[in-house]
Amino acid sequence: MANLLETRGLTAFYGDFQAIFGVDLELQAGETIAVIGANGAGKSTLMRSIAGVISNAPAMIHHRGQPIGALDAADVVCRGIALVPEGRKLFPSLSVEENLQIGSYGKRAPGYWSLETIYALFPILKERRRNPATALSGGQQQMVAIGRALMSNPEVLLCDELSLGLAPVVIKDIYGAFSKIRASGAAIVIVEQDIAQALKVADRVYCMMEGRITLTGCPAELDRAAIHAAYFGAGTHELA
Ligand SMILES: Nc1ncnc2c1ncn2[C@@H]1O[C@H](COP(=O)(O)OP(=O)(O)OP(=O)(O)O)[C@@H](O)[C@H]1O
Ligand SMILES: [Mg+2]
Repeated sequence: MANLLETRGLTAFYGDFQAIFGVDLELQAGETIAVIGANGAGKSTLMRSIAGVISNAPAMIHHRGQPIGALDAADVVCRGIALVPEGRKLFPSLSVEENLQIGSYGKRAPGYWSLETIYALFPILKERRRNPATALSGGQQQMVAIGRALMSNPEVLLCDELSLGLAPVVIKDIYGAFSKIRASGAAIVIVEQDIAQALKVADRVYCMMEGRITLTGCPAELDRAAIHAAYFGAGTHELA
């Protein structure tokens, strides 16, 4: 069976600077994968390429067997691929509810997610729905960013560093929502620097270093030393 989503020899550049060198990644329907790697490894560039924020050659990214590498971000959302961007990128002058509604504007696929089901997933957002999004705590803002992406009823949800800057108890809350998101049928790509979190939630893990995939496998078959080498290279750093 064809993969739901795959990248084939994906390269990405910022001007003359090459950030990604031939990344092959596969995602099957309903699967949750994690992409881990240190600062600057190319994780966000990979997510932005898939989401159409960065344009690539058409054949470098396939969705349901069709080349989508050159589509822009709006067309990628229409195909059912939604990004929760690094740093959340909420609209500061809009309310929580307006931020959520933007996620479905003009490109709403039929499916499980609506304002109602997102408020059931994150009840605090219903209480805060009339507040400006930026008046919320960091964790609540992350919930809005996830909700906004879900509003398009994606079949692929790309999540870039959800836990960045959040307290452990808040991270637990946010990842607690993922079983419901999976149950809605979405396949999920999680980018994380928190390796333990990634191993906990993912069916398969990809490790990136310096723009390349250095390790792939199921959490149960990856040992600590292999992850260490794939994450940091052959240096002397120790895993936390
Ligand atoms: N807008 C940009 N312009 C130029 N270079 C960039 C830009 N964004 C990222 N880079 C460079 O591309 C490389 C990959 O960056 P990227 O943001 O994809 O890494 P990352 O794995 O997401 O890191 P982090 O964990 O810090 O978010 C880095 O060397 C980074 O400095
Ligand atoms: Mg990043």
